[in-house]
Amino acid sequence: MSSESQVKVVTTHVLYEMKLRGEKIAMLTAYDYSMARILDAAGIDVLLVGDSASNVMAGHESTLPITLDQMIYHASSVVRAVKRALVVVDLPFGTYQGNSKLALRSAIRIMKESGADGVKLEGGSEIIDSVERILSAGIPVMGHLGLTPQSIHKFGTYVVRAREEAEAKKLVADSHLLENVGCFSIVLEKIPAKLGAQVASELKIPVIGIGAGSGVDGQVLVTHDMLGITQEFSPRFLRRYHNLYAEMLGSFQAYIKDVKSMDFPNEREQY
Ligand code: KIV
Repeated sequence: MSSESQVKVVTTHVLYEMKLRGEKIAMLTAYDYSMARILDAAGIDVLLVGDSASNVMAGHESTLPITLDQMIYHASSVVRAVKRALVVVDLPFGTYQGNSKLALRSAIRIMKESGADGVKLEGGSEIIDSVERILSAGIPVMGHLGLTPQSIHKFGTYVVRAREEAEAKKLVADSHLLENVGCFSIVLEKIPAKLGAQVASELKIPVIGIGAGSGVDGQVLVTHDMLGITQEFSPRFLRRYHNLYAEMLGSFQAYIKDVKSMDFPNEREQY
């Protein structure tokens, strides 16, 4: 689908209607203007300015170091590119946990300074005060449960979450809690497919999965992973649509060769 022919702005209500009629929601990450333009033109429903920018754009080992100012920079670049998609921005680590007033201040900064459509927070009952306070200001909130990378130091590993009954029960309870307080959607990351399908069938709001199976209402991947720009990350849930690393490497090598051999620029490429 091309957004040129069918420009319809995606709102949280549109996502809700998509779930009602069984249309799957396609979401990908974006951190910059040029990539966001292509994603939006392709007809992506939701663009996530994920704190995965910490890994993908800045080369950190985890999502923890990225700052609110950096997230706002990425988000405002994405928003300038988008005509159709809903833009959701991660609240970074340390800007909402344990302090709902700080959470609201952080969310307001994102909304005011980037022009995004909503924010995403990781966690369930432990951050519910922050979620409620942000919602009370009229800011749409997307939840995120299962593997929550901002808590990597607590988990100690990126393995599949909620395989054990107690953790699965908490995840289901947290999903309902997030829906009941007014979140417009939740992301479920790296959990058993059966549990993903159960949560999607129990909730009225759309459930977007990343490694949560096919029974959820939509899917999200990190764009640089699905394009094959990143090489080292290969979880089972990742489908690579391209090997852009190899393609880009080849182009850069060809350019270097052309410059060194004085093949570039040629007669037609100069004034
Ligand atoms: O930061 C991110 O990219 C995310 C997705 C993996 C859901 O939170």
